[in-house]
Amino acid sequence: MRHLRVPRRETSLWRDKLAGNGWLAEGHGIHKLGEYTGIPLNDSAPLEIDDLEILELDPLTPGPKHWTERIDSEILAGHHDILPMSHDQIGDVIIVKIPEPLMPHSQMIGEAMLAQHPSARIACADNGVKGDFRVRDLTVLATKSDTSTKTRVKEHGNTFWIDPSLVYYSPRLANERLGNVDCATKLSQTLGRKISVCDPYAGVGPALVPLTKIPEIVDEIYGSDLNPHAAEFLQLNLPDHNTRCADALNLSRELPECCDLLLVNLPHESIEHLPHLLGLLKKGHEVVIRGWAIISIDLLEDAEMEIRKHLVDTELISLNLESKKSYASNITYASIEAHIIRN
Ligand SMILES: C[S@@+](CC[C@H](N)C(=O)[O-])C[C@H]1O[C@@H](n2cnc3c(N)ncnc32)[C@H](O)[C@@H]1O
Repeated sequence: MRHLRVPRRETSLWRDKLAGNGWLAEGHGIHKLGEYTGIPLNDSAPLEIDDLEILELDPLTPGPKHWTERIDSEILAGHHDILPMSHDQIGDVIIVKIPEPLMPHSQMIGEAMLAQHPSARIACADNGVKGDFRVRDLTVLATKSDTSTKTRVKEHGNTFWIDPSLVYYSPRLANERLGNVDCATKLSQTLGRKISVCDPYAGVGPALVPLTKIPEIVDEIYGSDLNPHAAEFLQLNLPDHNTRCADALNLSRELPECCDLLLVNLPHESIEHLPHLLGLLKKGHEVVIRGWAIISIDLLEDAEMEIRKHLVDTELISLNLESKKSYASNITYASIEAHIIRN
């Protein structure tokens, strides 16, 4: 098919011009040709248009809109109500829950998903979260190259390495992690100096990586996790900072009074762990605890009372416990922010 080669910046101008003259081949895509693009021409278009070159290129036809259109409809017949219509993509790894009756077709589903998503390299079945470290049990369904699930993730302009088969990671809290930067900035203004941050349940460090980008606000960063694989990724993602593999319950013995801002993200146990973590915070001035807890909506007030009880030996400046997003029916992801002074 004939295509008009135009400078890339003039693509929409020329597309409109061709459409206005009735020369645009509708329903076909525009070729990317480095600094130029190729706009498809129909049979009514003249042999010459201005001084622009006309190229013979394969027409770009739009592909299927959904991966299910790439699979023979007979195979999926009878299964339409259980087809996995959503999935996670972590870096170039697609993670999808395959319902039991579709297991015999899981490889085909993985291949169709990879074909549908050009940025994905590997598709894996998610067999659920396992163990204390809440790591996903993954089975490789299909791959475009190797079978490694190690991948690089980009979150709001920050990049880090993760292997979702070895370490917990959820992209769903990415927006909430941005709040740490605001909090660090305000605390630094209050204290009139750079602050130090500790994340004892850091995973691969998604909450800490953005803080490494503001050295004028955060100077010391301590990241730790009990999962040894997470500790390896922490070192990879935060090479210039203090990372380790440790039980958060004992960390204040290794790092007493190390931080002004303490991140606590072990949502099923954040509140009960709190008394063991207080020793990580500096004394004599305002410090902040920011965390997440998974709580039954009916028990939010009880949870607040429990936090207050744990902070009874400190000067409590403010405490905010807020239901942020639904976790399950009647159960919420709540954010905790406590400003205290330890004496
Ligand atoms: C919910 S994840 C949070 C990870 C990370 N902060 C994030 O936002 O992606 C909790 C992390 O705590 C780690 N963990 C569980 N128990 C721990 C403990 N007692 N001490 C230190 N880390 C622990 C797990 O390995 C996991 O990486």
